[in-house]
Amino acid sequence: MEILIKASVVVLLCVMRGLCQNDDYDYDTDYGPGPEEYPGPYQITHNTEYSGPPPSYPNGCARECFCPPTFPQTMYCDNRKLKEIPNIPSHIQQVYLQFNDIEGVKVKSFINATALKEINLSHNRIKSNKIEALVFSKLHNLEQLFMDHNELEEIPPDLPNSIERIFLGFNRIFKLKEHDLRGLVKLTMLDLCNNQIDNFKGKTVNKLENLMQLNICNNKLHAMPGNLPPSIMYLSLENNSISKIPEDYFTKLQNLVAIRMSHNNLEEIPIKMFNLPNLMELNLGHNKLKQVFLIPKTLEHLYLQDNEFEVLNITKMCPVIDHLNPNRLTYLRLDQNKLKAPISMYAYLCFPHMQRIYYGEQKRVNGEYTRIQEPMLTHPPVSEEEDEDDEDDRREYAGYYQHEHGADTENYSDNYSY
Ligand SMILES: *[C@@H]1O[C@H](CO)[C@@H](O)[C@H](O)[C@H]1NC(C)=O
Ligand SMILES: *[C@@H]1O[C@H](CO)[C@@H](O)[C@H](O)[C@H]1NC(C)=O
Ligand SMILES: *[C@@H]1O[C@H](CO)[C@@H](O)[C@H](O)[C@H]1NC(C)=O
Ligand SMILES: *[C@@H]1O[C@H](CO)[C@@H](O)[C@H](O)[C@H]1NC(C)=O
Ligand SMILES: *[C@@H]1O[C@H](CO)[C@@H](O)[C@H](O)[C@H]1NC(C)=O
Repeated sequence: MEILIKASVVVLLCVMRGLCQNDDYDYDTDYGPGPEEYPGPYQITHNTEYSGPPPSYPNGCARECFCPPTFPQTMYCDNRKLKEIPNIPSHIQQVYLQFNDIEGVKVKSFINATALKEINLSHNRIKSNKIEALVFSKLHNLEQLFMDHNELEEIPPDLPNSIERIFLGFNRIFKLKEHDLRGLVKLTMLDLCNNQIDNFKGKTVNKLENLMQLNICNNKLHAMPGNLPPSIMYLSLENNSISKIPEDYFTKLQNLVAIRMSHNNLEEIPIKMFNLPNLMELNLGHNKLKQVFLIPKTLEHLYLQDNEFEVLNITKMCPVIDHLNPNRLTYLRLDQNKLKAPISMYAYLCFPHMQRIYYGEQKRVNGEYTRIQEPMLTHPPVSEEEDEDDEDDRREYAGYYQHEHGADTENYSDNYSY
């Protein structure tokens, strides 16, 4: 039974990974990606299945660009100081235009480019008012659009409804217009991190019935984004100014697997707020929380560092111990709170899979820090220096996955000596 559960977790993880395989927005890190690791390259799937000599295309490649003979449907125009987008021939499926000085997007460049599946325009100077109307609308095969690191003030309008993934991070987008994103029923991923959005309530967002991942980190939201569709699995809202979550906010979002809300102003969480059937990761670090809440059965990683907790009431987190269906929590981070003692040992009964409760240093009224003696672990703990830094959560996770996968017969509660 135990092994069966573990196997199914592994499968679940694989499925999850599979679903989000191509976004490098890495849900194993605590915080949004730094500029270098920003949502990344979609796996370029070149069509290598044809046999015989590659087809030859007259006007095969724009003069300014390079189309490799082995991948004649791909056109590389990146890093060329281009000011305009060249005309894109009709057979081209991927066009790479990143790192240029392009300011506008004109209809004439795309007039024949109906085979395009992917456009990379990241790291340019594109302004919203220099995108011509309907420029993308006829690209009925377009699946991915990279326009991060530009000077956009709005979400590009008139996107074709074939689009699956849109990357718009590091722009100057400040609000969502009512009909933005209309009809994009295939959209699975929308990245809007690092913009100036203070209000996310498009009328049509709710109709994006396949949207799985929404990233609005590092923006200026004061309230939770409105009208999200129930398909959402990954929600990233770190580093905004959200102080409250409406009581019934998540009741329609039962597919959520990961919620990231660190660096906000949350003070109170209604006790059943996060009681979601699929939630595995919850990050509420760097808020102002004082009271715990019910921990959902499926949750594996919980981040509560840098809040205002003085005690953690285990009875609230885990009102009943259910041996047949125990809580799956393995990692709990609690440093930089105001705790005076470790949580009650009852926690390990409630959370039999727990591998680590990290207390680190705790804030004191006079501004000093104190240290709480952690229960001893039999596997080597991560060194304190490493834990100080938020970015090291990645390592914590890495450790976790190794343990989880390697330990078929281990009884986790035996790992602690009381
Ligand atoms: C698009 O360009 C960015 C550079 O900003 C690069 O990181 C990314 O890998 C490119 N995407 C693809 C699919 O090549
Ligand atoms: C589009 O295709 C037509 C027909 O092949 C060709 O005559 C025309 O020059 C092309 N236009 C551009 C902008 O490439
Ligand atoms: C939060 O976002 C702002 C920009 O909105 C950025 O300057 C700051 O570095 C971010 N803070 C963190 C902790 O990511
Ligand atoms: C913990 O929470 C339970 C249930 O809400 C409550 O009955 C109990 O008094 C609390 N214990 C402490 C020490 O606050
Ligand atoms: C784990 O340890 C507990 C308490 O020591 C024991 O009751 C339980 O049977 C053990 N489970 C396994 C799978 O060994």
